[in-house]
Amino acid sequence: MCCALNAAIKPETVSDHPAVFDVKRIRDDFPILRQQIHGKPLAYLDNAASAQKPQAVIDAMDEVMTSYYSNIHRGVHKLSELSTRGHDEARVKVRKFLNAPEEKQVVFVRNATEAINLVARTWGDANLKPGDEVLITHMEHHSNIVPWQMACERSGAHLKVVPVLDNGELDLDAFDSLLSPKTKLVCVVHVSNALGTINPVEDIIQRAHNHGALVLVDGAQSTPHMRIDVQAMDCDFFAFSGHKVYGPSGVGVLYGKREHLEAMPPLFGGGDMILSVSIEKTVYNEIPYKFEAGTPDIIGAIGLGAAIDYLESVGFDNIEAYENELLEYGTAKLADIADVKMIGTAPNKAAILNFVLDCAHPHDIGTILDREGIAVRTGHHCTEPLMKRYNVPATARASMSFYNTKDELDRLADGIRKVIRMFQ
Ligand code: ALA
Repeated sequence: MCCALNAAIKPETVSDHPAVFDVKRIRDDFPILRQQIHGKPLAYLDNAASAQKPQAVIDAMDEVMTSYYSNIHRGVHKLSELSTRGHDEARVKVRKFLNAPEEKQVVFVRNATEAINLVARTWGDANLKPGDEVLITHMEHHSNIVPWQMACERSGAHLKVVPVLDNGELDLDAFDSLLSPKTKLVCVVHVSNALGTINPVEDIIQRAHNHGALVLVDGAQSTPHMRIDVQAMDCDFFAFSGHKVYGPSGVGVLYGKREHLEAMPPLFGGGDMILSVSIEKTVYNEIPYKFEAGTPDIIGAIGLGAAIDYLESVGFDNIEAYENELLEYGTAKLADIADVKMIGTAPNKAAILNFVLDCAHPHDIGTILDREGIAVRTGHHCTEPLMKRYNVPATARASMSFYNTKDELDRLADGIRKVIRMFQ
């Protein structure tokens, strides 16, 4: 590990928020960013895959394990009481983070994938009938495609797909023409992990509701970048993962409107999801516990709560303003390199730069950038249908966080030029 990196960073501030946001100070909060990779300062540009953890999250999880860890909802002793309180407080923090009306509407799961599968298995199996339609989009992550393929196979419903325009926006005219009384559910990603496109989910939800369809929003990539308000959005379900919002992996959230969650059967049976059990009959617990069978990820949920506190302390106004500045800067840097072909150029984008080079396979780009200390993701990004749509087998993707710097984007551009020199 080397601590020289922080000293080397030039102070960089968002022009509108100079007193509030100081990226050098922010970087001090993330111990992992201090290291060198292959002798170069780490430039971590793989935040869409998973974000790094601030010291506050590490400390909160450490404190649970060193001071008050125990199982929850099961003991009258002090440690169980403290752990239960910590877990309950985490749910309150998530409720506020999403602006959900009630804590009951926050279900802890393992990740966004599990949240979507839970809806597909419970709401889907109870409500989808032969001839019904589930509408997804061509830019969905596999986690918002495969569970619906499986639900359609089980129910006899049909899967329909909203196309994507060349620039990475959804074709909303096509969406309108696909909506019909047969549409029971629309599943849409809020921010595309591969394109960066920010979808107009409020508008999509309103149009779907006008046709009587419910809407599930995959918020895995929006929650790290923007303030979420599930009530203003009026979504029926919203899913996100802890590890993408600077919390630990292994914990995520399903939000649902109360009437849907109450009507849904549980997915897993076991401890904590019951009010009473006899051999003849089990009475299920109320929401959200009905969906939380077994000992949950207690430490993870408390870590997620700490991550939310941290994000609130940085402030979403600062996060959005600074990340937009990085996106603009990085887009211009890559536009200067003639060989770079960007995939995803929608006007409303999160800080994701997804690109290909004719001269080099994305895996070669990723490997050479890694030797420069720059971490990007290469591959299909769990969006194979989208790769096919753009006629590419894979791409290289730099995804930014508010702890990244313009200096790192300069290094990314230099690294890409090096790849081009080596392969041309
Ligand atoms: N869905 C994550 C990504 O986009 C893993 O990389």
